[in-house]
Amino acid sequence: MSLWRRKQAVLEGGDAGGNEKPGRRPRSTSLAVRPIPDDALILVPLRSAVLFPGVITPLAVGRGSSVAAVQEAARQGRKVGFLLQRDPKTDRVGADDLHWVGTAGEIVRYVPAAEGVHHLAVQGQSRFRATEFLDGWPFLVARVVWVPEATEGGEAIEARFLQLKAQSIEAIKLLPNVPDELAGAVQAIDSPGQLADMVANLLDIENEEKQAVLETFDLQQRLDRVLEHLAGRVSVLRLSKEIGDKTKKEFDERQREHVLREQMRQIQKELGESGDTAAELGDLEKSLEAAGMPDETLKHAKKEFKRLARMGEGSGEASMLRSWLELMAELPWKAEAQKPVDIAEARKVLDADHHGLEKVKRRILEYLAVRKLNPEGKSPILCFVGPPGVGKTSLGQSIARATERKFQRVALGGLHDEAEIRGHRRTYIGALPGNVLQALKRAESRSGVLMLDEIDKLGMGGFHGDPSSALLEVLDPEQNSKFRDNYLGVDFDLSRVMFIATANVLDTIPGPLRDRMEVIQLPGYTEEEKLQIARKYLVSKQLEANGLQAAQATVTDAAIREIIASYTREAGVRNLEREIGAVLRHAAMQIAEGEARTVGVDAGDLQAILGARKFENEVALRTSLPGVATGLAWTPVGGDILFIEASKVPGSGKLILTGQLGDVMKESAQAALTLAKTWCGDALEKIDIHVHVPAGATPKDGPSAGVAMFVALTSLLQGKPVRPDVAMTGEISLRGLVLPIGGVKEKTLAALRAGISTVMLPKRNEKDLDDVPAEAKAKLNFVFLEKAEDAVRAALQ
Ligand SMILES: Nc1ncnc2c1ncn2[C@@H]1O[C@H](COP(=O)(O)OP(=O)(O)OP(=O)(O)O)[C@@H](O)[C@H]1O
Ligand SMILES: [Mg+2]
Repeated sequence: MSLWRRKQAVLEGGDAGGNEKPGRRPRSTSLAVRPIPDDALILVPLRSAVLFPGVITPLAVGRGSSVAAVQEAARQGRKVGFLLQRDPKTDRVGADDLHWVGTAGEIVRYVPAAEGVHHLAVQGQSRFRATEFLDGWPFLVARVVWVPEATEGGEAIEARFLQLKAQSIEAIKLLPNVPDELAGAVQAIDSPGQLADMVANLLDIENEEKQAVLETFDLQQRLDRVLEHLAGRVSVLRLSKEIGDKTKKEFDERQREHVLREQMRQIQKELGESGDTAAELGDLEKSLEAAGMPDETLKHAKKEFKRLARMGEGSGEASMLRSWLELMAELPWKAEAQKPVDIAEARKVLDADHHGLEKVKRRILEYLAVRKLNPEGKSPILCFVGPPGVGKTSLGQSIARATERKFQRVALGGLHDEAEIRGHRRTYIGALPGNVLQALKRAESRSGVLMLDEIDKLGMGGFHGDPSSALLEVLDPEQNSKFRDNYLGVDFDLSRVMFIATANVLDTIPGPLRDRMEVIQLPGYTEEEKLQIARKYLVSKQLEANGLQAAQATVTDAAIREIIASYTREAGVRNLEREIGAVLRHAAMQIAEGEARTVGVDAGDLQAILGARKFENEVALRTSLPGVATGLAWTPVGGDILFIEASKVPGSGKLILTGQLGDVMKESAQAALTLAKTWCGDALEKIDIHVHVPAGATPKDGPSAGVAMFVALTSLLQGKPVRPDVAMTGEISLRGLVLPIGGVKEKTLAALRAGISTVMLPKRNEKDLDDVPAEAKAKLNFVFLEKAEDAVRAALQ
């Protein structure tokens, strides 16, 4: 306590010209101080720095007492001890305000200032611990004991030392603004203690933590401490470099063309070929004039061109302007004369590319006919909706072929930024036009077919503006003759482009967009249709892709059927095409190796080529026990079957539901159970009923599994299994009425794919069977349900 008071007095004396202690010298004369004992050090408190041995560091001192301390030490040629303050905000520090372990160092450079801050360079030398603070000087003085540098060796130390070295070199390489020599310096350090100190000094950690390192005298512990901090730092650095690289890559790609052009110009200049620039400019001017843009636009472009011609070589703005003018010259401004569409010819092309799809083809031809009769009229935008692999994209290509137009595709899936559609303003570095204009430039035509693929996966608008509103403008016949891309900055006429959109589902297409389009559904194919598609199109396509002649390899119908039933489960034909490709690749191998001249593939060969069947008849397997019913579900990728599994466990009458069911589905399970209890009249107080809908990763919701739940529960309670060839769909009311549901067509096709022969539907859905292909109807029995009991009667064995 007394120590503290005395100290306080000294400091005040030092800073403000003493007053408390009679006989104390004022600061101005403090040079003639009494001698400092040999085992004591002049001290300088540091607000926010820790000095380590072996480190040279700049320091600034401003407080009167500190300045006096430094001056006195310099005068006497003594070392100075540096101690970290506990609180950087304390101005007048005493013993209790300081850490007592510090580093003594030599002042290697001192730049005094008349007033204010004095600058020092200090070389840290040795650790010490203060043992007693002394008074009588206008600065801090304390007796100290020296802490010798630990020099112990051994494997544990050596291992940590190497680790620390490796990590610090990695960190140095990852840091953006560190000179490479530092890595060399670190490499050269051969004392573990010194390396730990040096790294701790460089690390971006709190001063308190640095102080903790300084106070860790045990070498192994000190190394561990530093290693821990460094490891954390390195992983952050790695991550930030990764992020930096990624952003840089994106940026680089945009910039690449820009930079290359710039370099090319510089090289030409160096080679004295800059005469070409004049010629180049001349060419650019000519192509601008020849591009066929509207007069107003041309005027604007020429004005910009003149600006470019006046501009110095190589300025950033010049190259930006040049890229813009080049785009202006390349865009397809001209309206090329369209050959009137020959509808009969178009029909042939559509038939040649796609099997079946009668309704769809008819609708496409109508659309073409209307366009033919009234080319200037505003025709609707077609939107093909259906599961993957049903031919949406390839139909678009056929339409282009049928009408002799260029085809281009714009992928909209996952677009979040309005600028992707409408472009960035030209003043941005690396700005580009939006992808609608880019597609037109690629097509070299403004009356081609532009496919807006995956319009249902368009991202929500966010921070960067809503892409769907930009798309609205593109598709709106009232607006799109004056479409304005941010980059282009002038109107471009999109009214002659034939837009066709595709989507897997309708629901996620933003409402206003959906209203602009005419939706054409492609529901998926039956097994028979798939067989025809494979025979007529897919096999020959894959023969060609694998370099085979039709005579060299054949695939029997039985083999194709087997692929459809056991190796694929899909509404479209994409996997079917892939598996046929695999089969034919196998044939090509055999022929290439000279094992055979022709290869015929039959159903029996498939296991050897494609491996074990992927989709066995699951239904029979699953429904062999009481409590399992086969339901029918609608999913965005077509219909599918799903199993409802119910079982009894000892309990207290609870209903347990698992399998990621949505709220509506849970409620319909409750309703089904209530109904099943009334129906079976069972006492269920001593058991819990567990209902599970497998394939837990797909969330399921909707009321249409009600009938299947009721049947599963009844089957469980009565101990009778459900017939394996029956699948069902329908909502139930608490009073046992069966209510209608949606997606009848998709569900029916899914049942057929799964080998089901009887489909049970709500009576009120009977009319929806009109949409189901006749071939599917012919193969299925339908049971129409009015009451839930009807389902039980027909389904239980
Ligand atoms: N009716 C058909 N006749 C002939 N080939 C077809 C038919 N339907 C689809 N195909 C072929 O199936 C393949 C997949 O079709 P496509 O790529 O057009 O599917 P998609 O509907 O666009 O699917 P996604 O939604 O996954 O984009 C193509 O090779 C296509 O030619
Ligand atoms: Mg597609």
